[in-house]
Amino acid sequence: MTVEHPSKAVSYSVTVGSGLLEQASSYFNLDRKVLVITDEGVPTQYAGAILKCCSQAELLVLPQGECAKSTGSLELIWETMLEAGFDRSDAIVAVGGGVVGDVAGFAAACYLRGIDYYNVPTTLLSQVDSSVGGKTAINFLGVKNIVGSFHAPAGVLADTSVLSTLSPRLFSEGMAEVIKMAATGSPSLFRKLEECVDVHPIMSEVITSALEYKLDVVSSDYSEKGLRSVLNFGHTIGHAVEAASGGALYHGEAVAIGMMYTSSGQARRRIEGLLRKFNLPVKDAYSAADLMQYVRRDKKRRGSLTKLVCVDEIGTYEFRELSDEALMDLIQSHKNEE
Ligand SMILES: NC(=O)c1ccc[n+]([C@@H]2O[C@H](COP(=O)([O-])OP(=O)(O)OC[C@H]3O[C@@H](n4cnc5c(N)ncnc54)[C@H](O)[C@@H]3O)[C@@H](O)[C@H]2O)c1
Ligand SMILES: [Zn+2]
Repeated sequence: MTVEHPSKAVSYSVTVGSGLLEQASSYFNLDRKVLVITDEGVPTQYAGAILKCCSQAELLVLPQGECAKSTGSLELIWETMLEAGFDRSDAIVAVGGGVVGDVAGFAAACYLRGIDYYNVPTTLLSQVDSSVGGKTAINFLGVKNIVGSFHAPAGVLADTSVLSTLSPRLFSEGMAEVIKMAATGSPSLFRKLEECVDVHPIMSEVITSALEYKLDVVSSDYSEKGLRSVLNFGHTIGHAVEAASGGALYHGEAVAIGMMYTSSGQARRRIEGLLRKFNLPVKDAYSAADLMQYVRRDKKRRGSLTKLVCVDEIGTYEFRELSDEALMDLIQSHKNEE
């Protein structure tokens, strides 16, 4: 299945299916110098499959985890390309999760003021979320995603067969982002997830629906004003829960909990049902006051109001701006209901 990015300003195709890695040269122009970037945690056969499709490739293996989104990685990437004589017509292929995609994309955005990069996302989170939309970034001085740019990929290959090596926990956290998108804008996908007995056989369809939704949202509002923030459903309180957990909870797990705070009625019950089905947590053990401390530090906050995406009915959403007092009440009353 191929999803075309619908905007006129940026155009690239995203192909979803099983066993695509071996055919990468049918989707990407690899007949040039190519730097394949991966990390130590990504099974080596995935970058290996891409390398086999290239005639003049270099391989760079970054360390695993958030620490790879660093200026050190950028220097390594640029050094490797300079030494191998990469020019503007050459390309980068990122093979990995959101970490590799973000740092490789940013390196490509800056090298010679922008060269092509292709994304081969290998986690579910990166297949449905970070590989499209064009955001690239590194962390700096302990601040996440603080330096980056918009640089759309030249193409994306989401090969569902790579999901077989993901830990169940990483798979579930990717499902949290899928549930987020289905809850705010795709009632049919939401129903499909509720009805399926085993999601694995329909992963291509699930990923394609999620990608179509994300691409639609980002293309109608490419640079994060207004509409794009629907993708923050579950994230504002989720980020606070994630920070309060001090790394114990994965991002997707915290987002799952965040969605519970910002949904109501039957929509909340259905979201909870899906979260449980995919082994995601639905509540946290932190006090409302603790969570508020972290909400106040949210970099997306403007003034003293917090903008929340709320879902009262599956498939629709509403933005609500809450004062700290109202937000504290919301968090506390949700806790009282549990
Ligand atoms: N650019 C965006 O729009 C955007 C959106 C969301 C998140 N992000 C970023 O994405 C990052 C998180 O991405 P992530 O969750 O993919 O994390 P990740 O890239 O760190 O991958 C998680 C772990 O899984 C391993 N891995 C990757 N593929 C695997 C596979 N197929 N089998 C087994 N192990 C595999 C990796 O080595 C890593 O240790 C964060 O840095 C976040 O800021 C970016
Ligand atoms: Zn997220």
